[in-house]
Amino acid sequence: MGMSSSDHYFSEQPTSATAPTTHHVDVRKLKLTLAGDRGVFNQGELDWGTRVLLENAAVPAGGVLLDLGCGGGAIAVALATLRPDATVWAVDINERALEVARRTVALNNVTNVRVVAASEVPADVRFDAIWSNPPIRVGKDELHRLLKDWLARLTPDGCADLVVHKNLGADSLTKWLTAEGHTVQRHSSKQGYRILHIT
Ligand SMILES: C[S@@+](CC[C@H](N)C(=O)[O-])C[C@H]1O[C@@H](n2cnc3c(N)ncnc32)[C@H](O)[C@@H]1O
Repeated sequence: MGMSSSDHYFSEQPTSATAPTTHHVDVRKLKLTLAGDRGVFNQGELDWGTRVLLENAAVPAGGVLLDLGCGGGAIAVALATLRPDATVWAVDINERALEVARRTVALNNVTNVRVVAASEVPADVRFDAIWSNPPIRVGKDELHRLLKDWLARLTPDGCADLVVHKNLGADSLTKWLTAEGHTVQRHSSKQGYRILHIT
């Protein structure tokens, strides 16, 4: 993917030279323009898993929404376009991803997305819904910690939809979430991606 060996899409500060891109994509009857760059997940192309999530998850009613691990911001702008009255938070640890996500927001003329580092979301903010293509590759412990922190911030009626490939541990993640006290409904979808609907 053109990154140096120490440079992952989940690096806090990618070291690869920037190479900004722009892609036009059609998804769920939406026409989105996605900014991308080296050192940012999928370099601006719409990931298959993200597409499966965007095309199959039930659109949240509105309120305060979260794109957890926003990367270039595809999920955030889709939510913001589908629900113009909602407030959408888009968070990531990768600083370059945040810059790219801000560019994606500007390219789609949405004004209801707040792109910030995860640590910058005020502690009292609660989410009516979370949509995420989570960072499986950070490893199980870190992924579990991340999900625990953010799922705890759902409103009492809130829900989360995560897309995970079955070969990347969708089933073991489901078991862990259930053991954590969540109800998880699994929707199988094309190409081995599963949407985990969590309440
Ligand atoms: C699989 S990518 C999905 C990116 C984007 N949402 C999409 O669908 O194209 C997961 C993202 O999670 C981010 N991430 C990794 N660890 C994180 C953390 N602790 N907090 C927030 N985001 C994190 C990565 O930097 C990466 O951008």
